[in-house]
Amino acid sequence: MGKRLFINIKELYGILPLEVTRLQGEMMDRVESLPNAYLLVEEGKIAAFGKMENLSLDEMKGVEVVDLTGKRVMPAFCDSHTHIVYAKSREQEFMDKIAGLSYEEIAKRGGGILNSADVLRNTSEDELYRISCERLEEMMEKGTGAMEIKSGYGLNLESEMKMLRVIKRMKESYPILIKSTFLGAHAVGREYVGRQQEYVDMVCREMIPAVAAESLADYVDVFCDKGFFDVPQTAQILSAAAKYGIRPKIHANELDVSGGVQVGVDYGAVSVDHLERTTEVEMKYLKGSSTMPVMLPGASFFLGMPYGNAKEFIKSGLAVALASDYNPGSSPSGDMRFVWALGCIKMHLTPNQAFNAVTINGAYAMGVADKVGSITVGKEAKLIVTKEIPSLGFIPYCHHTPFIERVII
Ligand code: NIG
Ligand code: FE
Repeated sequence: MGKRLFINIKELYGILPLEVTRLQGEMMDRVESLPNAYLLVEEGKIAAFGKMENLSLDEMKGVEVVDLTGKRVMPAFCDSHTHIVYAKSREQEFMDKIAGLSYEEIAKRGGGILNSADVLRNTSEDELYRISCERLEEMMEKGTGAMEIKSGYGLNLESEMKMLRVIKRMKESYPILIKSTFLGAHAVGREYVGRQQEYVDMVCREMIPAVAAESLADYVDVFCDKGFFDVPQTAQILSAAAKYGIRPKIHANELDVSGGVQVGVDYGAVSVDHLERTTEVEMKYLKGSSTMPVMLPGASFFLGMPYGNAKEFIKSGLAVALASDYNPGSSPSGDMRFVWALGCIKMHLTPNQAFNAVTINGAYAMGVADKVGSITVGKEAKLIVTKEIPSLGFIPYCHHTPFIERVII
């Protein structure tokens, strides 16, 4: 890999000390930057950066130099919530949705997650890997440098394991940083319809030990929401995973105020996600916890749901991360620049607040803030080099004008 020196960077954004792993409250509006900067990459890590006037080129003999005159550099996006391992898109449901059916109505008719599970069970592991990698590569091209990927379209032991093995293979084959999450409790598998508690017992008794035995999951997730899994079932699953040291990331409050935030915080969740319907009660509960609230504006956009109240969270001193939720049912896009733009346009975050929500706070929400999410010496050099754009705020503002010159991962 060797050394590479980027010089004449118009402005370098997202500089943080290593000990800052998330930005909360007022701090979320700050983006530390350096105009006219250089950045040295060594063996894939950020080795040094600073002002051009302090760079001594003599010391850089033999180093590959890349002139970035006019271009800006920021950390690559950190997408802490995705479901990109699925077998087939669901645009037939898109028609139902356009005709006015809600997400829950589509799910009740056997569409939704169960529909994806039927197809995935009949797709080979190799084919599933191939299709999923196409999505991963598209996301990398769009500037994502770290991401979390969930299972949850298998809903039986064999197919959940298949999904997690695909994620493992992706981890091993791509330079992007990937964390995997076991989401066996995404919906009740077809064989168990009407026997939900038996399904939950099976998840705890069979799936979690099998997943842990092969170290296939960094985290465990439960869709704790109206019509899916309730708080006691969620607690049961989280406690079964805790025996193997697997921490939670929770789907909560997408369809209703579910109690998922509280049970997540109680079990030391890294993040609680969705939060479209969160009230002051949950905000109080999150205060002082180590759990990152994650909002998914792409799902709000696609399903016409309310947006998470990120401004109130930040006003009360909390942090917020934004993620894509890339999945075939509620958010068929992994474009984090679009998520950044929705954060500004629909959630009224400033470009700086939303920038921090899609970089350092996203990294925190998947437990990798010590490795990615900011310009920090020692962190992995996962970077976006922009075209010659007028400012950082231009990126979410001109929300579909191409802005990436190249992505370094
Ligand atoms: O995050 N909410 C649950 N899971 C996904 C949707 C999954 C699907 O519809 O396939 C979500 O929105
Ligand atoms: Fe999701």
